[in-house]
Amino acid sequence: MNIVIINGPNLNLLGEREPKIYGKETLKSIEKKCKDHAKKNKIKVDFFQSNIEGEIVTKIQKSRDKFDGLIINAAAFTHTSVAILDALNLVKIPKIEIHISNIFHREEFRHKSLISSAVNGIICGLGSYGYILAIDAIKKIIKDNK
Ligand code: DQA
Repeated sequence: MNIVIINGPNLNLLGEREPKIYGKETLKSIEKKCKDHAKKNKIKVDFFQSNIEGEIVTKIQKSRDKFDGLIINAAAFTHTSVAILDALNLVKIPKIEIHISNIFHREEFRHKSLISSAVNGIICGLGSYGYILAIDAIKKIIKDNK
């Protein structure tokens, strides 16, 4: 089983960025946790981050015949990007949207996600543990669909 985990803008600065909201863990450390957890479950992970919307769109497009599942934290693009929504709609594999923070506890503009209608499920507000839960959820959806 191969999955891709896509991270959007400013997530490369986790650890340093607003630690009261996002915690002190770096993206590198989250990547390692994801890969360790995935390995135990016989899953291979491609962990990707970009600050550029078009690069994320291209990564999603390329996922359609390369991966069995997709996890995305689109960060700020969650609230703005029709292009990411359209790309996700192209890709017919199980998809999970995640957020480290609880976007519904925050500013009103974060309450709306443009991409949620394109995914199987959403995990938010559980910190970096959300990534691990998303891996487990993807695995279950793929298994149940077989
Ligand atoms: C985020 C929430 C978004 O509103 C924000 O723009 C981010 C991170 C999260 O993981 O909590 O950059 O997606």
